[in-house]
Amino acid sequence: MCGLVGYIGNNAVEQTLLDGLKNLEYRGYDSAGIALNDNQNIDVFKAKGKLNNLTEVLSNRPKPAKNSMLGIGHIRWATHGKATTENAHPHLSNDGKLVLVHNGIIENYQQLRHELEAAGFVFHSQTDTETAVHAIDREYKKSQSLEQAVTAGIKLLEGAFAFCIMHKDEPDKIIAVRKNAPLIIGLGENENYIASDIPAIIGKVKNIIHLNDCELAIVEKNKVTVKSLDGQILNKEIEAIGFNPEVISKNGYKHFMLKEINEQPVIIRRMAQAHLPESGLPVCWGSKGCMLDLNRIKNISIIACGTSLHAAMYAKTLWEDWLQIPVHVEAASEYIYRANITNANSLVIGISQSGETADTITAVKQAKEKGAQILILTNREDSSIVRYADCTVPLNAGIEVSVAATKSYTAQLAALYWVGLYFAEQNKSLSASLLASLKQDLLELPAKMEEILSNQQAVQSLADKLKNFKDMVYIGRGINLTCAMEGALKLKEISYINANGYAAGELKHGPIALLDEQMPVMAVLGPGVTFAKMISNCEEAKARNAFVAAVLSEKAAVKESFFDAELRVPETNETTFPLLANIQLQLLAYYVADALGREVDQPRNLAKSVTVE
Ligand code: AGP
Repeated sequence: MCGLVGYIGNNAVEQTLLDGLKNLEYRGYDSAGIALNDNQNIDVFKAKGKLNNLTEVLSNRPKPAKNSMLGIGHIRWATHGKATTENAHPHLSNDGKLVLVHNGIIENYQQLRHELEAAGFVFHSQTDTETAVHAIDREYKKSQSLEQAVTAGIKLLEGAFAFCIMHKDEPDKIIAVRKNAPLIIGLGENENYIASDIPAIIGKVKNIIHLNDCELAIVEKNKVTVKSLDGQILNKEIEAIGFNPEVISKNGYKHFMLKEINEQPVIIRRMAQAHLPESGLPVCWGSKGCMLDLNRIKNISIIACGTSLHAAMYAKTLWEDWLQIPVHVEAASEYIYRANITNANSLVIGISQSGETADTITAVKQAKEKGAQILILTNREDSSIVRYADCTVPLNAGIEVSVAATKSYTAQLAALYWVGLYFAEQNKSLSASLLASLKQDLLELPAKMEEILSNQQAVQSLADKLKNFKDMVYIGRGINLTCAMEGALKLKEISYINANGYAAGELKHGPIALLDEQMPVMAVLGPGVTFAKMISNCEEAKARNAFVAAVLSEKAAVKESFFDAELRVPETNETTFPLLANIQLQLLAYYVADALGREVDQPRNLAKSVTVE
């Protein structure tokens, strides 16, 4: 959500921080700031809006007399307090000596603020973060040690946090500490970094340390010491960064979203090859094997948010058919606030591209406490959610920079497909011949995806026709319903056109009242039992003068000119059709948003990973 970065070393501190923040921009934000420590003073610079505004503030200031030795930076996605310069981080103590940046939410901030104000501390913002500065500063006044002050101060904080903290009188270090929010330390030569996510330090260092909850790192130029909050020095594993700088470049595409849509065949081919060596061979789980006790599973719950929730809905339709086990799907934010029936017989699956979505993490944590087995599907094997996993299925889709999820969604669908086949194979719920043909369908998908991507004319011309509508309805049935819902979500999040996905059979129970020539309908018509009924639903829409477009298979038989526009995809089975149809809908959303001149990769109000509940 917010992003933070810290640097201590011989390089130009200001530029290093700005470079780091630039690479975190994709997370979505509304203000930015840095604090520089030149061994004499701490200077804070902030600006509302894009990072360019901060760069401008910095370039308009008089040339500093001394070079900075260390600094911290932040991009903020407003939660407590509006997106203003005052609320932007870093936040300073009243004596201007202690400064920090923060990711997360301090839940007991109101009570703390009250207490600190009563003790004479003056607040300059509406943020929860400022309570942390003053709480730690109050401790500093007692101990005169930044490490001790941070250790004592953060014990007073409830909620989620990752902090980078500096003090004017201790210019040899930055302290990093976390609880329920990600934080890594990048290890360089005569320099060290702190970051909330790998892109901030990609290409700068080769090795990192992942901090765990309630661990504190004292980051000096030539040394990093990690301690528990009771002062024990910890021997942390040093890990190599698994990404090269190319993953955060557009590679000639106009937007990351378009690049990521085009990466999908390669990702699915890699995944298919890893898990389905041949249609006649058993599904291969991967090197670590499946650590789940499958005999224990009597019910499955899949918990996720947004696009990942749509992937979960796909799995429900697929798996209840293949496995004959009840599969419950729920938004994580709903699951955590009710008495659900999760128990030791449950398999709870958390799906999260980022692995940092606070709602999904909390839900999974609750399920684990109830004794459920936990399976995590994530694109970030190094993320926080993995801590609760009995077993992890990595999506290996590469870093997804565009806020709108595309390649990770398709990878989620494909992963749920092969995991479903694995379970079916283990509990023998499908015949060998059906299993083989389902495997073959997935193996053939990448080439079919390439075919779609090689001809984007139809989708571009449809985007041109749809771009000036204010609203749109997407419809689908059965396994394609989620495809309709995801198509609508994609369009609305990047184009700001109001679009909603409905079960086509539900149209006549209400939404049909919306239909007229101003309300285009996008129908997702896969092969299978629902095809004929979908045609009837489209007839109903046409009878209300709606412009009706459809995504359907190459050979699907429909009367000539029945649809106002068609997006065809290569022939495939009912169960794999959504993975192809979805690509057309991603492209449609992309071309509409681009034609409208939207900021495709960083849509307003959205953040890439939502680390607050
Ligand atoms: C997708 O386009 C969205 N930006 C959003 O709905 C996202 O899928 C959701 O926030 C969940 O994220 P996660 O998969 O990282 O948990």
